Amino acid sequence: MSAAEDRGTAAQPGDGTSGDGTSAEALVDEARRWWQTDIIDIRPGEIALRGYPIEQLIGNVGFVETIWLMLRGELPSRAQATLLESALVASVDHGPQAPSIAIARMATTCGVPVNGAMASAINVLDDIHGGPGQQCMELYLEVDAECEQGRDLDDAVRLVLQRRRDAGVTYIPGFGHRFHPLDPRTPRLLSLVDAAAADGTVSGRFATIGRAVEAAIGAGKPRPIPMNVDGVTAVIYCELGFTPELGRGVFILARSVGILAHASEQMVQGGRIKGPLPKSIGYTYTGPERRSVAGAGDERRSTS
Ligand SMILES: CC(C)(COP(=O)(O)OP(=O)(O)OC[C@H]1O[C@@H](n2cnc3c(N)ncnc32)[C@H](O)[C@@H]1OP(=O)(O)O)[C@@H](O)C(=O)NCCC(=O)NCCS
Repeated sequence: MSAAEDRGTAAQPGDGTSGDGTSAEALVDEARRWWQTDIIDIRPGEIALRGYPIEQLIGNVGFVETIWLMLRGELPSRAQATLLESALVASVDHGPQAPSIAIARMATTCGVPVNGAMASAINVLDDIHGGPGQQCMELYLEVDAECEQGRDLDDAVRLVLQRRRDAGVTYIPGFGHRFHPLDPRTPRLLSLVDAAAADGTVSGRFATIGRAVEAAIGAGKPRPIPMNVDGVTAVIYCELGFTPELGRGVFILARSVGILAHASEQMVQGGRIKGPLPKSIGYTYTGPERRSVAGAGDERRSTS
């Protein structure tokens, strides 16, 4: 609520005061303070991001470094940016079988323009598809906090997984995959984290935690439940000091690339009102057998 609203008075045009005599300068000052940001400073002829003039950033700083600068306030080291970039590259696309990508393509065939197709797709990147990285980061951070309290890693993992089970969580976010017995992105990304830990870019702590969680949830199962792309990028985002919310956000930034590519390809291919399956392939109806409304005749045979 503004100071004027708070006082229940309206600014009086023309006399330089509000109804209660607040000066025009005070009102303008209040208006200036309405939005406050450390991110960008714009004046006529000048733009600076986190204090850096845009003309110095352009041509000298990469897009991934700019993402980091915008989100974290400082420029990353080259090694930090390279590790972040590897996670972003891994996440750009998972084909039309991934609901977000299918939705972008279906929306396009319904005539939705590119912004609508992208927004529709991004909307489903929630806790179950695309977004589990955020919950996985929360889990890793909880394990880390338990270890900080002096608990041994395996105990901490057991305790945190038990807390999830007690809360009714049966699928641990960041593990398992419907399509890949072993997600090909995981070993490659983990090897990059290990290399970054070896050269001191990151601690390697969260790679250790991620592996311990994978071992614990797979224990006693006939098949392993391997870390998926959300689980391994969660390792990277924790290693790099991102918050869980930012982890989900940067995943969405990456997946937006695939979403845009598929929406754009579908626009070129054309097609109208494409559903999730060709119409020759039915779905499974599980409702009641055909039955009659009391008193109704066979309406299909009646003539008007
Ligand atoms: C991705 C996912 C839906 C795939 O599931 P699925 O391959 O159909 O797996 P199923 O439901 O057939 O489960 C097979 C077994 O593995 C277990 N399992 C699978 N994923 C698990 C997980 N993330 N945590 C714990 N157990 C899991 C199941 O409980 C089941 O065990 P059971 O046979 O003893 O009952 C599932 O692993 C999941 O929900 N993961 C968490 C969410 C996530 O990370 N999503 C992003 C995917 S990229």
